[in-house]
Amino acid sequence: MGEAMIRGILTKELTTPQDIIVNDINAARLGSLKAEYGIRITDDYGSAIPGSDVVVIAVKPQNLAGLMPELKGRFIHDQLVISIIAGTSISTISAGLGHRSVIRVMPNTPAQIGQGMSVWTASEEVSQQQQGIARSILGALGKEIYVPEEKYIDMATAVSGSGPAYIFLVIEALVDAAVNIGLHHEMAEELALQTVLGAACLARETGKQPKDLRDMVTSPGGTTAAGLAKLEDGGLRDLFMHAVIAAHERARELGR
Ligand SMILES: NC(=O)c1ccc[n+]([C@@H]2O[C@H](COP(=O)([O-])OP(=O)(O)OC[C@H]3O[C@@H](n4cnc5c(N)ncnc54)[C@H](OP(=O)(O)O)[C@@H]3O)[C@@H](O)[C@H]2O)c1
Repeated sequence: MGEAMIRGILTKELTTPQDIIVNDINAARLGSLKAEYGIRITDDYGSAIPGSDVVVIAVKPQNLAGLMPELKGRFIHDQLVISIIAGTSISTISAGLGHRSVIRVMPNTPAQIGQGMSVWTASEEVSQQQQGIARSILGALGKEIYVPEEKYIDMATAVSGSGPAYIFLVIEALVDAAVNIGLHHEMAEELALQTVLGAACLARETGKQPKDLRDMVTSPGGTTAAGLAKLEDGGLRDLFMHAVIAAHERARELGR
């Protein structure tokens, strides 16, 4: 996810490779990032933080407890910390780093191709100018939405954060079903992927409600009606309701 941010920032020319300095515990990873993007690298936290306007923390949640004591006390007042760590509150980051200007983001994996959905919020100490910088960085990964309270980050985690995995499962199921009625796997995959992509683009570009678009392709007694009836009978809506509730509860549990 950190690499997706570097790629997005450089693709949108928000800054130059020389203005990005990356620290990673993994030396091979650092080497490949330098080779790919021409950025600066360091194995020393001490040289990564001074002089940086924005510091992005992009480690896994389980690595955070080890990292925070290394970083604590190194920040100065007008630096901005952006955390993309799932399930970690602004107060945890702020206390762990001894720094008050913190933005918390829930991105998602399509950020890797500039089609991400990032939902973010900011501590009171983050200035309007810093919010603008965060907006540009996150905008380079796809769409971004600011929310005024952290509770919406947990909700977004259950919808857009985990959402790509739900849709991948739907695609897998559609491919399996297509193969089951006799299509070759390659063709089944092409049909499923282009259908999901096309449906999302159609909804986005026409601005029409999904229900209206669905009604437009559902003739009484027709093929779509037959398929949809099975999905409704099988409880598809109910399953999504429960999936999102379960993911939301888990996000809140992890944040406690
Ligand atoms: N992937 C997603 O869809 C997604 C969505 C939303 C939010 N997030 C959040 O984004 C964060 C990063 O996820 P990811 O999937 O990009 O993880 P990742 O691929 O494991 O990247 C994290 C990198 O940080 C390195 N690292 C670990 N401890 C470190 C330390 N103390 N100092 C410096 N570098 C350290 C890791 O090295 P090693 O591999 O050697 O440990 C790894 O190269 C997570 O907190 C996750 O919750 C991810």
